[in-house]
Amino acid sequence: DGPLDELIAGLAVDVPDYPVPGVVFRDLTPVFAHGPAFRRMVLGLATPESCDPRVAAVAADEGRPPFDLVVGVEARGFLLAAAVALETGVGVIPVRKAGKLPRARIAADYALEYGTATLELHADSVAPGDRVLVVDDVLATGGTLEAAIGLVERLGGVVAGVSVVIELAALGGRQRIAPHAVHALWTT
Ligand code: PRP
Ligand code: HPA
Repeated sequence: DGPLDELIAGLAVDVPDYPVPGVVFRDLTPVFAHGPAFRRMVLGLATPESCDPRVAAVAADEGRPPFDLVVGVEARGFLLAAAVALETGVGVIPVRKAGKLPRARIAADYALEYGTATLELHADSVAPGDRVLVVDDVLATGGTLEAAIGLVERLGGVVAGVSVVIELAALGGRQRIAPHAVHALWTT
């Protein structure tokens, strides 16, 4: 009951100086642990509002979901992406940190709020023209989602939408992801 952003805000916990001094980390684990909040979060991420309006309109005309696949970003994105895929009846694909995928893969280096890393995607996991919803828990600087989007597009995938639970607006992630729109359940 009540607005979803207020429910999320009430359950998330701010942790000062984690993982490094100066960063205030918004811990979402209590939101994931709350059954009704988790369910509403998943439904919110799965909504056609998460998608490009043109892609969503064509799909609605055709009577099918506006995406063919959900991509989740390791690790917290996995918890959400699998649930969104189950809810919408499509498959789920992992974008993983370096060294975790066993078969032919493509890679992208990226910088995040507190370090650098590499993300990878199996080369055969997205086919040209597949419409992909990219899901993660937090949009901070946008480096992670920028890299994940780039991987999908390098395989010829169409990013149908990008959805996150929290957008930390001051860090400018939305601008970094543009022209892709981001659907955020709570912008703070
Ligand atoms: C966090 C979060 C996002 C990313 C957001 O993941 O889950 O994926 O950072 O930051 P950005 O917008 O500045 O790129 P993290 O890399 O800490 O990994 P984890 O999910 O494995 O904890
Ligand atoms: N909270 C959770 N995850 C994050 C954050 C944060 O503040 N910044 C980057 N990833």
